[in-house]
Amino acid sequence: MVRERLRRFAPFRSLGVRIFIAVCIMGIVPGVILRYILLSSYETRAISVRKSEIQNQCTILADHLVTYGYLADPSSEVINAELEQFSSLYDGRIMIIDNDLKIIKDTYSISQGKIMISEEILRCFDKSSIAKHDKINRYIEFTTPITDRTTGAVIGVILTSVSTDNIAETISIMGRKATLFEVIVAVLAVCFSVFVSMNLIRPFRAINTAIIQVEEGFTEEKISVPDYIETEVISASFNKLMDKMNTLEASRQEFVSNVSHELKTPITSVKVLADSLLTQDDVPVEIYREFMEDITKEIDREDKIINDLLSLVKLDKTAGGLMNISVVDINAMLEDILKRVRPIADRAKVELILESIRPVSAEIDEIKLSLAIMNVIENAVKYNKENGWVKVSVDADHQFFTVTVSDSGMGIPEEAQAHIFERFYRVDKSHSKEIGGSGLGLAITRNTVLMHDGAIKVESSEGIGTTFTIKIPKTHTTADKETDEESRKDEKTI
Ligand SMILES: Nc1ncnc2c1ncn2[C@@H]1O[C@H](COP(=O)(O)OP(=O)(O)OP(=O)(O)O)[C@@H](O)[C@H]1O
Ligand SMILES: [Mg+2]
Repeated sequence: MVRERLRRFAPFRSLGVRIFIAVCIMGIVPGVILRYILLSSYETRAISVRKSEIQNQCTILADHLVTYGYLADPSSEVINAELEQFSSLYDGRIMIIDNDLKIIKDTYSISQGKIMISEEILRCFDKSSIAKHDKINRYIEFTTPITDRTTGAVIGVILTSVSTDNIAETISIMGRKATLFEVIVAVLAVCFSVFVSMNLIRPFRAINTAIIQVEEGFTEEKISVPDYIETEVISASFNKLMDKMNTLEASRQEFVSNVSHELKTPITSVKVLADSLLTQDDVPVEIYREFMEDITKEIDREDKIINDLLSLVKLDKTAGGLMNISVVDINAMLEDILKRVRPIADRAKVELILESIRPVSAEIDEIKLSLAIMNVIENAVKYNKENGWVKVSVDADHQFFTVTVSDSGMGIPEEAQAHIFERFYRVDKSHSKEIGGSGLGLAITRNTVLMHDGAIKVESSEGIGTTFTIKIPKTHTTADKETDEESRKDEKTI
């Protein structure tokens, strides 16, 4: 949850800021932890050294007290001097308590003669001495038993309290120095992290600048930022995308110029015909009729081009044209197509032959596919010679059916075979002009075949003839609903 919020927080989404924070943390946090560990371990160590030192001193003192019989007579100059020296050396207070719990000596001379009852003292008479560190009030308190040498009994207690101020002072001096050091390290870490983050993200900035320059049209050069493998990969992907877009743009421009040219030709002819009629006086009715027939032909041509273009747009595989699939008798469908092409074939003196190797039925869009096959058969008739022939045959295996259209026509040059399925492509423009056509027929056929998940190929020898083979699966794998709906939307927009 917190991570998610942080991720959405705008500055954290910048790589530079993240690197900056990471380097800062790496530079500052170890210093802070180290300081804490060092200071606290120094304090523990200093206290424990102080404790054992004083404990030893007190044990020696207890021995002296017994030697000098101090508990019986606390006037010993030697001992009193030793006590004074001890208390001033360690900045502490020493109290000697006899077994009546009476304070017989207090180096602060405050409680002398008073009775002292405390848990620590009572426990010390039971031979368990105590060394207690009070951190808040900064002192260490010890109880040391004074033991009779002959009986071994505890005959008194030395209560010592020693200030730890000097240890605390040392720690605070060390702390101040550590803080100064940390501040210097933190400043250096911040400067270093700014430097590192700026340097690390520089190549990404360079990529962005290069992309913007390409986008704004200042350059068409390929971008190259080889600083990191990552930037190299991004540059390569971007260049690939640009290549693809340039190819698309080139084909779009070519298509637009082809369309405009093809659409303009019939209009120009109509204008020329109409102008020549208008500029002549007393034109005979026959000429009018002849010209008007030509004008009608040109208008029909324009109409065909527009219709072909529209069906191409609808058929476009990416637009996902809507398919109207049903089980169709392919033999009957071919017979029907041949019936429709026969008048043209008769006029061109071309023989049409249908060879049904076996009965075939398949799941197809009948209207679209018959138009596609008709385009191929029409071509076979159109680009044929007098007394030539066109043979259409249909065969199938368990998975596919194949329609083959062979002709005895002029053939297609090898170098043109790769282009005949392109929109507006015609092999020999001048020759094709006599025959007529816009170069869209095979593009429509190819798109229709692809929509049926099929394939179309051409084999041809110039002067001998051409064979088109269309292979289509007998069962149609339905495109998912979404595609159907999308295509319906597309149909509306067309
Ligand atoms: N069977 C064939 N024999 C020889 N050339 C052919 C044959 N089929 C097609 N071509 C060549 O391929 C070109 C493209 O054919 P396509 O059917 O796409 O266009 P078109 O026939 O010129 O015009 P459209 O079919 O749009 O009226 C034709 O112009 C023609 O040059
Ligand atoms: Mg054609």
